[in-house]
Amino acid sequence: MKVDVLLGLQWGDEGKGKIVDVLTPRYDVIARFQGGPNAGHTLEFNNVKQVLHTIPSGIFRENKINIIGNGVVIDPIIFKKEIDSIKKLGTDLTGNLYISKKAHLILPTHRIIDMASEQGKGKTKIGSTLKGIGPTYKDKIGREGLRVGDLTNNFKEKYTERIARHKQLLEHFFRFEYKQVLADCEKDWFEGAEVLKSFRFIDSEHFINDLLNNNKPVLAEGAQGTLLDIDFGSYPFVTSSNTICAGACTGLGLAPQRIGKVFGIFKAYCTRVGMGPFPTELFDGTGDKIRDAGKEYGSTTGRPRRCGWLDLVALKYAVMLNGVTELIMMKADVLDEFETIKICTGYEIDGETVDYFPFELNDSVKPVYVELPGWKTNLTGIKSAGEFPPELNSYITFIEEQMNIPVSIASVGPNREQTIFLKKE
Ligand code: GDP
Ligand code: IMO
Ligand code: MG
Repeated sequence: MKVDVLLGLQWGDEGKGKIVDVLTPRYDVIARFQGGPNAGHTLEFNNVKQVLHTIPSGIFRENKINIIGNGVVIDPIIFKKEIDSIKKLGTDLTGNLYISKKAHLILPTHRIIDMASEQGKGKTKIGSTLKGIGPTYKDKIGREGLRVGDLTNNFKEKYTERIARHKQLLEHFFRFEYKQVLADCEKDWFEGAEVLKSFRFIDSEHFINDLLNNNKPVLAEGAQGTLLDIDFGSYPFVTSSNTICAGACTGLGLAPQRIGKVFGIFKAYCTRVGMGPFPTELFDGTGDKIRDAGKEYGSTTGRPRRCGWLDLVALKYAVMLNGVTELIMMKADVLDEFETIKICTGYEIDGETVDYFPFELNDSVKPVYVELPGWKTNLTGIKSAGEFPPELNSYITFIEEQMNIPVSIASVGPNREQTIFLKKE
């Protein structure tokens, strides 16, 4: 048995949460492999709307195990809040949420360092979600991090030692006034840590490989998107983990040959939240129209998302890096009202048109577009692919031909039910 992987092909917020929830009935286990509470994965079903930050999106389906893998970074404060809000919906998690002992902890000072670092950068800031992601992964790679497994072993001593180092950094390097902020959140942090400890800590690499050996199907859930990958994204305007398929190997302890299907999710257009280049960004009324129709405001920070046309140069790059086997197109309904829709098929750089993703996406990169007719149809009530207007079919076929990969699902609304499976012979 192999692990299927579901991940974002753009700058995040493609709709991963929704589709993981839709696909969960096919699997026994859902495992998050990287990122932390910078993620906001939205699920909508039965009049419930829930945003998940750390907990895998399979949590609302019965009799499924959800695993937070070693590649994830966990903030106990946010974790506790998330648990509380899920419990209110009547879902009990204690028996079906397992946490890797090797997942790293976001300490209260990591968040403060994130704030201090962004403030220090001024105009060149990343636009981080300020959840402490960068500083936590920095400590992980610098071999100074604390892991979930440390919580049960002499923790206070290790914590005090790490925090002392962070305080020095804040005082002497950032010259940042941290004392009050730290005092305000330390109690909550330890309360959150107690909640964390009430869950089962596992050696998730053994656990998952044993499941596979026993023919149990597993789905790996990514966070963020390929263009935010630490190695291949629009560096330095990226997050601090490997968001690509390879991240599922390191983030769960899987050998590469264990990877099965790779579901690559993209929006029928493009969004980005935070700073950094975005070649197809629209600064005019069309961008506003997409933002309004798509309710494009961050699930984690509430920030307005930057909007633009679908970028097939970037998508092709993402498909290559991830070995995508099936494409999933989200939010087609957002384009319902458009007379025509543009798709970027190339970049013009210094007078030459290229179809590869360059080292740097600077201002000299200009998108080259083709324009396709819009469908001018309300898609939100559609129940099967047979009801698709011909212009939508042409839009999907155009993308499939350019990518050489089938689109297996098209999403026409935020609800679990608004998901159309496309039959391919
Ligand atoms: P994720 O981070 O990839 O899980 O995506 P987010 O949850 O941050 O953002 C996707 C947003 O679009 C959420 O508000 C979803 O409820 C919503 N959404 C998902 N699929 C669709 C769709 O097909 N149509 C519309 N209109 N909204 C959708
Ligand atoms: P999901 O999983 C969209 C962006 C931030 C910022 C950059 C670095 O919901 O798709 P960080 O907090 O990681 O230091 O921020 O990455 N970013 C996301 N954008 N969706 C996300 O997650 C994101 N997680 C981080 O806006 O530009
Ligand atoms: Mg999101």
